[in-house]
Amino acid sequence: MINRSSSRKPAPCAVILAAGQGVRMRSKKPKVLCEILFSPMLQYVVDACREAKLVELCVVTGHEDQQVRSFLEQQYPDEPIATVRQAVQKGTGHAVQMAIPFLEGYRGEDVCVLYGDAPCITAEELAMAQRQHIERGSAATVVSATIADPTGYGRIVREKGTLAQIVEEKDASATQRAIREVNAGIYWFAVEELLSVLGRLTPNNESGEYYLTDVIDLLRKEGKRVDLYESSDPTIVTGVNSRAQQLALNESWRKKEIARHCANGVEFLSTEGVIIAPNVKIGADTVILPGTTIGRGVTIGEGCTIGPNTTIEQSTIGSRVTLNNVQCRSSIVHDDVEIGPFTQLRPGSEIKSFVHIGDFVEIKNSTIGEGSGISHLTYIGDSDVGKNVNIGCGVVTVNYNGVNKDRCVIEDEAFVGCNTNLIAPVRLGEGAYTAAGSTITEDVPAWALAVARARQQNKAGYAKKLQQGRKKKYPPAKKASSSTTSTLDS
Ligand code: UD1
Ligand code: CA
Repeated sequence: MINRSSSRKPAPCAVILAAGQGVRMRSKKPKVLCEILFSPMLQYVVDACREAKLVELCVVTGHEDQQVRSFLEQQYPDEPIATVRQAVQKGTGHAVQMAIPFLEGYRGEDVCVLYGDAPCITAEELAMAQRQHIERGSAATVVSATIADPTGYGRIVREKGTLAQIVEEKDASATQRAIREVNAGIYWFAVEELLSVLGRLTPNNESGEYYLTDVIDLLRKEGKRVDLYESSDPTIVTGVNSRAQQLALNESWRKKEIARHCANGVEFLSTEGVIIAPNVKIGADTVILPGTTIGRGVTIGEGCTIGPNTTIEQSTIGSRVTLNNVQCRSSIVHDDVEIGPFTQLRPGSEIKSFVHIGDFVEIKNSTIGEGSGISHLTYIGDSDVGKNVNIGCGVVTVNYNGVNKDRCVIEDEAFVGCNTNLIAPVRLGEGAYTAAGSTITEDVPAWALAVARARQQNKAGYAKKLQQGRKKKYPPAKKASSSTTSTLDS
């Protein structure tokens, strides 16, 4: 046994297995990128490791490894994660063998090995298993849990009460299959001990794979100390191998999140179609209506009405805001704003207090100042709209000429008439008016009225001539052959 004092600093290292295809998911994505509540399963595992102060991480990639590596680079740009490729997936033991060069750097330390398809693991459980592992000076510690339905999991076989072996379902006898204590797929190893047996795995089983679980048996036969850490939370074992399991996990997390918000004073009239990502903050007395999905990175204040059929992602919403049938991405909405129905806020929009935005309006990368109104059928893109501005129906900021995008500036108190086209770059000064139907190509000075449309001409009698050739549907023309007698009379 390695001599380690329990006061030694915990080893900051983990290996996450993420090379498998996950055949039963029937996905083009690698399984670990399949999502639970809007985030890939792998992200939950990495985040739990990081929260448990496991800084040095090595992810074993394989199937569609480029996708997994790009995800890690994008998601963790400031804290790079090492990856190693397992070109052919020959089992979990083989996957860890690929990380041998990484593990060589941690001799004398401990490593946590865990699977990227089991997203329920928490930092607390990782840390508690680690503490036990170090206190007991174990060569290996296997996290286990006793669950109602152990189907599909490796069974924990004990001898004289202690861990003897992990037997996969396929290889298990009928008696072993009845065991309800299962392998969570989370392990702590003394790196030295793991390296000493890793090369000796054989694919001697029903699947013909190199099982990581076999290192337990090998270590024990060498007289090394192997222990179980029995998790107090049986849900942490839940792994996802199929779409049905993915759905079941999504559903149980969804309910858990909704229950958390209820406890915080959020009101749900019904939870039909309501999906809220983890870590979303919602203030008390906010009502969430059906069909509302709230993704990562969202904060909502108090006393809002959100929904029905509203989607919010990466956005901050103030208090007393109404979002009715709204799509809102990467935007900020301040207090006392009313938006909807059928309104889209695209990334980079900031809506200040007391604004009203109505139906069929799209806002992109624009600021709308306090008290302004955009009631219907309008596109505001790349624009800075001041305070108390009125934007009439059907206004379009023409922000893109096919090559460049330019900004429109609409200063405080301006009044933009219906069906105005604002050809960017253009500025409407404070209090400026535009006549309905104008196409504005030049700046309008403060308090001026811009009229930019052709003058109307009325041509007397011209319509009458056109009228003569017109076909009318009403009243319906009588067909020459049709009988006037009702069939009821015959
Ligand atoms: C595994 C365990 C089982 C445990 C269960 C918990 C083994 C042999 N069995 O079974 O005891 O109860 O997890 O969820 O370890 N992977 C690779 N390379 C490979 C094969 C797999 O990286 O060659 C990765 C997969 O991407 C996945 C993880 O390892 O993230 C687990 O593999 P999977 O095939 O899902 O193992 P299970 O059959 O679920
Ligand atoms: Ca699995």
